[in-house]
Amino acid sequence: MNEITLSAIKADVGSVGGHLAPSREMVARVKEFLSREGGGILVDHHVTHLGDDICLLLSHREGVGSHEVHKLAWEAFKMGARIAREEGLYGAGQDLLRDAFSGNVRGLGPGVAELSFRERPGEAFLLLLADKTSPGALNLPLYLAFADPMHCSGLILSPSLGQGFRFTVMDVAHTKADRVIELDAPQDLYDLAALLRDNDRFVVEKVHARATGDQAVACSTTRLTAIAGRYVGKDDPVAIVRVQKDFPATGEVLAPFALAHYVPGFMRGSHIGPLMPVRAGTPVSYFDGPPQVMALAFSCHGGRLSDPVDAFDHPFWDRIRDRAADKSLEIRRQGFFGPAMLGMAELEYTGIADRLKALEARFTVRE
Ligand code: 13P
Ligand code: 13P
Ligand code: MG
Ligand code: MG
Repeated sequence: MNEITLSAIKADVGSVGGHLAPSREMVARVKEFLSREGGGILVDHHVTHLGDDICLLLSHREGVGSHEVHKLAWEAFKMGARIAREEGLYGAGQDLLRDAFSGNVRGLGPGVAELSFRERPGEAFLLLLADKTSPGALNLPLYLAFADPMHCSGLILSPSLGQGFRFTVMDVAHTKADRVIELDAPQDLYDLAALLRDNDRFVVEKVHARATGDQAVACSTTRLTAIAGRYVGKDDPVAIVRVQKDFPATGEVLAPFALAHYVPGFMRGSHIGPLMPVRAGTPVSYFDGPPQVMALAFSCHGGRLSDPVDAFDHPFWDRIRDRAADKSLEIRRQGFFGPAMLGMAELEYTGIADRLKALEARFTVRE
C-alpha cells in the first residue's frame, strides 16, 4: 500500500501523586516496548505525554483501524498500567476499560485519532493532545482554523483553501452507533456553528479539503463514561492536523489557541476552565488543571518522523499562559456557582444528584 497511516492512540494508565503525570519509568518502558515489538509493523513511532496521559504516535502502512497496530498499542498500555500498579500510582489502568483486546482499541477506553494519506513532498502535521478536558474542546480552534478568515488568512489568500473544508461532526450523545453529519464551510457555516457550540454533544471528528478531497484532521471522540457506565476520568482528546499547501499553515492552526477559550473539564471533569497552551510533558497542577493543550509539529518522509518541534515552547505563549492563569483564577473565584461548574447533565459525579434526591422529601408546597 502506498499510503501512510498515522495513528495517535492515547490513554491514562496511571499517574504520580494524583492525576498529575505518568512516571518516568512508565514512559521509558513504553518507548522500549514499541522499539522492541513494533519492528515488523511500524515504520516509525514517537511517544509523548501530557498531564496524566501517554500518547503513542505510530506511523505504518496497515491502514486505519488495523488490528495489529491497535493490539500493539493496547499491549504497550497494558504494560504501562502494570508498572503503574507496581509503583502504586493513582488510577493505574484508568483508561483500559475492558480486560481483553477485541480487534480495535475503539470502545475499549484509549482515545484514537488516525488517518491515511498519500504523502506529499514536505508532509507536515501537528499532533495535538489535551488533558483535563473533552474532545469538544477542539471544536472552536478547528472551526476558526478551517472556516474563519479572521483567523485563517489562507481562506482568502490561497485559491485552494478558498474552496473551503468539509467537517464531519459526530453526535457523541448517541452511544449505540456512530451518528455523524457532513457540513461544508463556508456554505453551511451557520449550521456548523449551531452544532459546534454544543461541545459536550457535537464533536469535530474529521475535516477534509474540498479542493482535493484529502483529509486534514482526525480527532478522537471517545466517551469513557458511556463505555464504563460511570465516571472514570475525562475523555482527554488527541488530534492529528495535516498542515500547509492545501491545508491551513501551521501558524493558522495554532493561532486560535491564543484565545485560551473556556472548556469543560478541570477538577473532577466537572468544571469550566480556560484551555492553556503548554509545552509537551507539562504536568497538571492548579485545581487539577487548568485544562491544557500541547502541539508537536512533525515532518514525515516515507513514514519516518522527524524530531518534533514543540510548537507552544515559544515566548509568545508565555503571555497566553499568563492570561489563561488569570482566566482560571477569575472563574475559580465563584467556586461551584452558576457556569463555573458544569450543568447537571454533564456533571461527572453522582453525589450531587443523590443529595438533591434526598432533599425532595423535605420540600413542602405552600398553599
Ligand atoms: P477519587 O474520587 O478517586 O479521589 O478521584 C477524584 C479525583 O481524583 C479528582 O481529582
Ligand atoms: P483525568 O481524566 O485526566 O484522569 O482527570 C481526572 C480528574 O477527575 C481530575 O480531577
Ligand atoms: Mg487520570
Ligand atoms: Mg488525563
